[in-house]
Amino acid sequence: MELHILEHSLKVASIEKEGIQICTHGLIKLAFLASKTRYVHSSPSRRQTCTLALDFKELPESEHISVAEATWLALNVVSGGGNASNSQPIGVTKIAKSVIAPLADHNISVFMLSTYQTDFILVRERDLPMVMHTLSSEFTLLRVVNGETVAAHHLGVTNGFVKPKLAPRPIIHPLSSPSNMFCVTSLDPDTLPSVATLLMDVMFYSGGSKESGAGGEDTSHIRFFSFSLIEGYISLVMDEQTTQRFPNNVLFTSASGELWKMVRIGGQPLGFDECGIVAQISEPLATADIPAYYISTFKFDHALVPEENIQSVIGALRSESNLA
Ligand code: ARG
Repeated sequence: MELHILEHSLKVASIEKEGIQICTHGLIKLAFLASKTRYVHSSPSRRQTCTLALDFKELPESEHISVAEATWLALNVVSGGGNASNSQPIGVTKIAKSVIAPLADHNISVFMLSTYQTDFILVRERDLPMVMHTLSSEFTLLRVVNGETVAAHHLGVTNGFVKPKLAPRPIIHPLSSPSNMFCVTSLDPDTLPSVATLLMDVMFYSGGSKESGAGGEDTSHIRFFSFSLIEGYISLVMDEQTTQRFPNNVLFTSASGELWKMVRIGGQPLGFDECGIVAQISEPLATADIPAYYISTFKFDHALVPEENIQSVIGALRSESNLA
């Protein structure tokens, strides 16, 4: 298996609702017009923020934008040569034991971004030597430099005598599961112009009074929309209802048309230094062989599991949780 270290340097930022006006031009450019790597998550409506992870040179400056201090690099696992048709678990489930758990055992903080196509594990740039040391036994490490993939040599860095602690991993943050269901979809970049205004609307402007005809006060309903454009591939995660606003045949959905339920992780904002959160959730899911997407945002983490598995997931996670 290969682990690719991508060349983008990323910053994670959050924009308050009030800042969107000021940043609109920059955001349109960022989200739709350039070809680099970007993610935009527009998250729970009550807090009215959206999270961005992007090439940091391009960030506009404003009092409404908070930028987390660390610079991140994206890692991507590529299973060499395997054909896609064999039934591999998808999403974080596939990398929970080989990547997520070892990084957590070595106290390395991650920021996860699952997409329709693949999963990106963001690690802080300064942790890269330890990351490479930790993963070099399981993976061929490759680095993308000026668009070319070359062997990455790790520098023989070790963490001295610190043994990874293989203690059990109780879930420490509160979990909640909103009532709505989500679709993980994609679209052809060529059709982007035809849905750009709709995307702008769902990302930044709707979710207020007019959209939620049926009881905007439903507290178990979460507003979450995620857009990512990474190396030319678009991935979208949206509420089932939001998919109905798109013209027919624009969104790719797998034949089975699965719907996903969300488990949101975190009561207080999770910050960026704590490690092991993704591992606490993804390891039990991998043990139970339940596919899952996992999306970190500026404040909280979100796991998406197949709708039919939500009860067993909640059961499994509760049993690992201090709060039960
Ligand atoms: N750093 C956490 C971990 O290593 C995941 C990210 C949590 N923080 C956040 N802002 N979403 O498991």
